[in-house]
Amino acid sequence: MSRVLGIETSCDETGVAMVEDGRRILSNIVASQVALHAPYGGVVPELASRQHTRCITQLTEQALNEAATDAEAVAATYAPGLMGSLLVGLNFGKALAYAWRVPFVPIHHLEGHIYSAFLTDTPPYFPFLALLVSGGHTSLVWCPAPHRYETLGTTRDDAVGESFDKVARLLDLPYPGGPSIERVAQSGDPRAFTFPRAMANLDSLDFSYSGLKTAVLHLLRTYPDANPADVAASFQHAAITSLVNITQRAAAQLGYTRVLVTGGVAASCALRAAFQQTALDAIFPGKGMSTDNGAMIALAGYAQFDQTQGWDLGMNAVPYLELGKS
Ligand code: KG4
Ligand code: ZN
Repeated sequence: MSRVLGIETSCDETGVAMVEDGRRILSNIVASQVALHAPYGGVVPELASRQHTRCITQLTEQALNEAATDAEAVAATYAPGLMGSLLVGLNFGKALAYAWRVPFVPIHHLEGHIYSAFLTDTPPYFPFLALLVSGGHTSLVWCPAPHRYETLGTTRDDAVGESFDKVARLLDLPYPGGPSIERVAQSGDPRAFTFPRAMANLDSLDFSYSGLKTAVLHLLRTYPDANPADVAASFQHAAITSLVNITQRAAAQLGYTRVLVTGGVAASCALRAAFQQTALDAIFPGKGMSTDNGAMIALAGYAQFDQTQGWDLGMNAVPYLELGKS
């Protein structure tokens, strides 16, 4: 089994890709719904699932044509994510596998993000720590061996990407907030304002981002003329500092320095630079691979194939599921 069709529809990107031998991307097509959700400042679940339904057939045809080959297995995200969106890709993938008489591999979205970093000449080797940072997740996961995951810490409220999206809205910057804030922050002073670093003085490996967002809200109410570039830079600095500090805390507790950083927020150059200034051995996926796509699901499907029964068509979508739990 070497060619896997990967399908990702857990949130607001429809991704379909064909990957060969877990190494070569034959096609990787992503239809972004950014323009659809931008007027609302965040993802509207019902609009997202309808849009996945509208475009998944054509996207799959495109991915198959570009790959110019057939699939020997189908992998699709089954958890976690928006229920309606998950159902579209999962059922589409199951139907394809059934019609083609090939195995179906259900994939946890965060495992897909982890495997997005395996597409390099020197893939990471186990064990490692994984920092998973996206619009829906902020988790530190200990990965001792393939397909064994132990969540050490997670967010107690907002996900870090969600806080970028919310703060961007406060600053009238376009959705998605992460890239907008990073762009504006380039001309700002990260030390102009001091925002709280959540969980700074605790022993916990959990994160918290809603206090930071509220602090930005209060600042903007108190100083409506504050320079938006300075606010963006100071917020970004605070958000990134807690990610780095808590990851360092976990690495020190475990005695391991290898950390894989992945998920949409890992596209941030500022985050990459901050990790490079630490003693940690931080590994990032290639930039286009950080955000949601079908190739990462195909890669995880390839890696997991040996361990599955091969015909797992009974799997249902699960909106909330910790990585490593079933
Ligand atoms: O992994 P992803 O594509 O979708 C989810 O699973 O959520 O991540 C999207 C999130 C959004 O919240 C977006 O604002 C954030 O990733 N993001 C960034 C950057 N690029 C995307 N956050 C900070 N800096 C960036 N450069
Ligand atoms: Zn994601």
